[in-house]
Amino acid sequence: MTSRANGRHLEALVARMTLDEKIGQLTMRTANMAVTGPVGAGEYLDGVRAGRIGSMLNLWGADWVRKAQVTAVEQSRLGIPLFFGFDVVHGHRTTFPIPLGEAAAFDPGLWQRTARAAAVEAAADGLSLTFAPMLDVARDARWGRIAESPGEDTWLATRFAEAKVHGFQGADLTAPDAVAATPKHLAGYGAVLAGREYAPVDMSARTLREVYLPPFRVAVAAGAAAIMPAFTDIAGLPMTANRPLLHDTVRGEWGFDGVFISDYNAIAELIHHGVAGDLAEAAALALNAGIDIDMMSDAYPKGLSTALARGLTDIATMDAAVLRVLRFKQRLGLFDDPVARGTDLAPATMAAHRALAREAARKAVVLLTNRNAVLPLAARMGRIALVGPLADARTEMPGPWRGAGAPDEAVSILDGLRAARPDADIRHAAGAAIDGGDDDEGRIAEAVALARDADIAILCLGEAAAMSGEAASRAAPGLPGRQGALADAIFVLGKPTVLILSCGRPLIATDAIARADATLVTWFLGSEAGHAVAEILIGAASPTGRLPVSWPAALGQVPIFHARRPTGRPPRAEDHYSSKYLDVPVAPLFPFGHGLSYGDVTYRALRATPETVERDSTVAVTVELSNDGDRAAEETVLLFVHDPVASLSRPLLELKGAVKVAVPAGGAARAALSLDMADLAFIGLDGAPRVEAGVYEILVGPSADEATLLRATITVM
Ligand code: GLC
Repeated sequence: MTSRANGRHLEALVARMTLDEKIGQLTMRTANMAVTGPVGAGEYLDGVRAGRIGSMLNLWGADWVRKAQVTAVEQSRLGIPLFFGFDVVHGHRTTFPIPLGEAAAFDPGLWQRTARAAAVEAAADGLSLTFAPMLDVARDARWGRIAESPGEDTWLATRFAEAKVHGFQGADLTAPDAVAATPKHLAGYGAVLAGREYAPVDMSARTLREVYLPPFRVAVAAGAAAIMPAFTDIAGLPMTANRPLLHDTVRGEWGFDGVFISDYNAIAELIHHGVAGDLAEAAALALNAGIDIDMMSDAYPKGLSTALARGLTDIATMDAAVLRVLRFKQRLGLFDDPVARGTDLAPATMAAHRALAREAARKAVVLLTNRNAVLPLAARMGRIALVGPLADARTEMPGPWRGAGAPDEAVSILDGLRAARPDADIRHAAGAAIDGGDDDEGRIAEAVALARDADIAILCLGEAAAMSGEAASRAAPGLPGRQGALADAIFVLGKPTVLILSCGRPLIATDAIARADATLVTWFLGSEAGHAVAEILIGAASPTGRLPVSWPAALGQVPIFHARRPTGRPPRAEDHYSSKYLDVPVAPLFPFGHGLSYGDVTYRALRATPETVERDSTVAVTVELSNDGDRAAEETVLLFVHDPVASLSRPLLELKGAVKVAVPAGGAARAALSLDMADLAFIGLDGAPRVEAGVYEILVGPSADEATLLRATITVM
């Protein structure tokens, strides 16, 4: 079963391959166990046997994978093993919070642990690659894939990138529990026009390099073995045909030696982009740009031989791609043992993953408001009316990209609260369908009657999982259906009311949030959703999550983010001629980094030393914290910088560090961070990165609300 190969042998193997076999190694086909794209596929084993398929996606389960692998290794002419990819984006059989929710934890250690657990489960199912982490900086709540992103901030996204690549790949990519990471979607996909899915993208070269590329560069430095370019273009050049970026920058400058895997059917879609007249031209553009593997389009299998015959590409370019694919398979250990991946996991392992999912879910929850300390719920909770379409919604809790998890394996909020308080009187009514239903009026009346007789109402509102993720842009990302009417009918009762938002994006729900006594954002928390929410509600755990995206007050503000550049006319309410709206505020409803705890933490005594520093050194930053509350808190301390005078206009705030600090009730703590002057670099007018001398502001606090930040200055020589 094993066909040993090493560096030298791979070149010899390529030399033995027919043209069809070479094209086969560059062709990825789906087995359709999950449908993740517009074109389907038929039977695949014949293609494997004939050497027309070199890798597969959407096939998992040790037996199924083994059957396909044995077909390749024992029944094809050259016996080259396949690799198997799947979207293990936030978990495989155990589902963790969506990446936007995980980002709210501001916890690279956690991110790495959940990726490691997901890799163990995926590899046990025979998978050798995940199409993750998704690293698209996202600043537009209309875009459904903001759910899969690490949020709006580049620095946070780079930390997420590094943690996830290390988690998925582990220390040894040949290990039977390692899967190749595929950072995606290179690059700028999060900036689609008007937040519309797959829409054109336009941005400056500087914005691309300063905001959208760094997470991918860090992922490459962390050893990512594959990369997936985006469906989208930038300024008319589709990523799938973007040789300057893929070949010159990512391979040439960054030293990436892995494989580029196209997105689903993306090569053939170069025709729709209007840069290719047929499959042969599309295939040549992609191959010449450096795309090694064609996921699910007919361009390589049906267009490459014609492209060669027409001289649109050449055999040397193809052989180089084939060699990279073989080296990739060798790096995964597939030549040494093609079926090393695939095993049963011990119940204790799965139990540990569920416990990790509960920890991750708990840390993802963000407490936006908590008037009159209505949370945590009092020990003697009285009668609770748990109403709303997301209260008893197990199948929605995993969110989009639920991996191989069973649809109803997740714990609903109702399940979790009842398990946490078996003695409590918890009444439930859905109150409305998620996205509008015929009998909503009747269901609202039922929910109101329930709440009228209760001591407190908990409104579980938000989106369906299918309203989030890929192909799920929303032009009006508010509370869907009649949920707003349900909320209004509950608020007018005048009961203490807690609002819980299950969502894949910052929802425009300003009125409901204003009227609720407390609002929790629970994103889509995965398998252990209900238990984590219950722990926060009853105070078994204090909320520690922080917003990884600015939360808009109104749709018209979108895209809205903290790292914005100043204008020549900064917003001033008293100044007519200043940058603002007539009808909505400039500030978000809640800033990046916002999140309350059950403590009461204040910041003081910021120090940044030395105050004068050379460009190649580091500044030590400390701040003193005190907790005047009666509950312990875990504070996430954010470090921003601002360069007030530079050769180019620089963002008002740039996140350059974050640290989590435990602050005991009634106690104090010190947060310590360090800032490398190299981190102050930006892309200068000449296109080169530069750190400029001058005075910089150091701003430290809990969020990007400048009113909450302590300031110090340093001078760079
Ligand atoms: C989808 C997505 C991509 C995913 C791929 C395979 O269209 O764009 O993120 O990894 O196809 O499922």
